[in-house]
Amino acid sequence: MQSRVALVTGGTGGIGTSIVQRLAQMGHRVATNYRDEAKGRAWQAQMKGLGIDVALAQGDVSSPEQAEALVRNVESQLGPVDILVNNAGITRDSTFHRMTPQQWTDVIGTNLNSCFNVTRPVIEGMRERKWGRIVQISSINGQKGQYGQANYAAAKAGMHGFTISLAQENAKFGITVNTVSPGYIATDMVMAVPEDVRNKIVAQIPTGRLGNPEEIAYAVGFFIPDEAGWITGANLSANGGQYMGW
Ligand code: CAA
Ligand code: NAP
Repeated sequence: MQSRVALVTGGTGGIGTSIVQRLAQMGHRVATNYRDEAKGRAWQAQMKGLGIDVALAQGDVSSPEQAEALVRNVESQLGPVDILVNNAGITRDSTFHRMTPQQWTDVIGTNLNSCFNVTRPVIEGMRERKWGRIVQISSINGQKGQYGQANYAAAKAGMHGFTISLAQENAKFGITVNTVSPGYIATDMVMAVPEDVRNKIVAQIPTGRLGNPEEIAYAVGFFIPDEAGWITGANLSANGGQYMGW
């Protein structure tokens, strides 16, 4: 397959790192953002040690201006972006009756507004070149809801609404837009859930374990090749069987 330029937001995180690695293994040139320079450069050096060159660009994806600047920075290093994975995300869990406006806006800003902020600067180039792949990393909790996650579930459900609208608008331009909805994956985000609560969640997963980031990266990789060009607007669940709704 032709080597393309891929931007994975939040590539330095648990799932993002595996997506970066997977796309690089597939022969693509990969970039990601960082917010903290020292952390970003240390991660880049770690990837280099594994034989993977990753371009870095600073930017907070909840800011439209910073998101546009980071896309232009990536373009200047690698060329136009053909593959975008909207993966950056956070949690601010709280039952709704205690949720603060800040907890709401932080999660909507980082998890949902970011999809607008980062996709908007890449979409016109993809339409002109008649090829593109956009993948949203949503969540099982956007599909089924979750106690303590009204903000997160709203953002994650919104991401798939974004996917299915963009998929319709851009199908004629060779651009596919899809969602991957992971279940509970062993990253810092899930390890931040109190252990007793986490153990109860794991007990509800038919596979009997948390997922691995590589298992999500595999699902993302599925949507990228030319052979996947007729698959658009899909929501691929990768959750160990915890939620099997349509
Ligand atoms: N269903 C029903 N009741 C529940 C419940 C659930 N899932 N979770 C908690 N409760 C109940 C408790 O039993 C408790 O009831 P009592 O008052 O009668 O004892 C009450 O709610 C309060 O529970 P806590 O003591 O846990 O309350 P808290 O305010 O300290 O914390 C919480 C509430 C923040 C929601 C906490 O329970 C929590 O962190 N839950 C996990 C939320 C979660 O799954 N987050 C996922 C993060 S990872 C991620 O988001 C990645 C992804 O996409 C999968
Ligand atoms: P993680 O390890 O915490 O990584 C999150 C990444 O997002 C980090 O690189 C982080 O960078 C970046 N990020 C956060 N806020 C940002 C912002 N405002 N601007 C730019 N980058 C930002 O989390 P993860 O578990 O890999 O999760 C990745 C994605 O998968 C998220 O969207 C999450 O909701 C989703 N997901 C996770 C699970 C799971 O079980 N882990 C399940 C379903 C869905 P910094 O280092 O700068 O913070």
